[in-house]
Amino acid sequence: MTLAPVLRRVPLFAELSETEIARLSDIARDRSYPKNSVILFEDDPGDALYVVVTGLVKVVLIGEDGREVILSVLKDGDFFGEMSLIDDQPRSAHVIAMEDSSFLVLRREDFQHRLREAPSIALGMLRALSRRLREADEKIGGLVLLDVNGRVAKLLLSMADENDGVHITRRVTHHTIAQMVGSSRETVSRTMRDLADRGFIEVTRKAITIRNRSALQTAAGR
Ligand code: CMP
Repeated sequence: MTLAPVLRRVPLFAELSETEIARLSDIARDRSYPKNSVILFEDDPGDALYVVVTGLVKVVLIGEDGREVILSVLKDGDFFGEMSLIDDQPRSAHVIAMEDSSFLVLRREDFQHRLREAPSIALGMLRALSRRLREADEKIGGLVLLDVNGRVAKLLLSMADENDGVHITRRVTHHTIAQMVGSSRETVSRTMRDLADRGFIEVTRKAITIRNRSALQTAAGR
């Protein structure tokens, strides 16, 4: 099966010519992982780059005591595993499937070769890395400058913005939110109840709806 139609939908490869896409399709492999499987282990050597085709993964650090911090959640079209291939250091974090997921995988040598040959891939990657650094800066700012209420408000706004700005349809547990904002599940549950009681959000089985955007923005320090 040719992977060209899948590759063409990946933003990183958006500017490649048909010939370059075909070349990439010859060297890329597809691979699937079930929900909860670990795709990359922190500290392992890096041997490949992954592009998410379907599903959702989380990039996590796991402490000695087993506590998890979610650095990022990546969806279809996003890539991961590039850092080890660029700086020759071990994997910087674990990457775990949050749903059954499928990927395009490029081996280290092939990826490095393509990076040298196709400047648009290198530029696309720099753009994505800049975006990740901005998000990491925002996150550090939030951890230092906001309380849990503000951090949860900020996360809810950014998850709604991934959708239509109002609804969060991605299923996300309080436990996961806690791991994303560096808090405990109990504190997040209390905060969510408080935000709902004040009419800032509405929580149903199917979605979280933003009811008072400006109040959430104020809480998030925007
Ligand atoms: P690598 O270090 O090879 O393996 C783990 C991957 O997780 C890393 O490459 C990146 O692709 C990804 N990653 C690490 N930190 C972040 C972050 N803050 N945001 C998004 N992705 C990240």
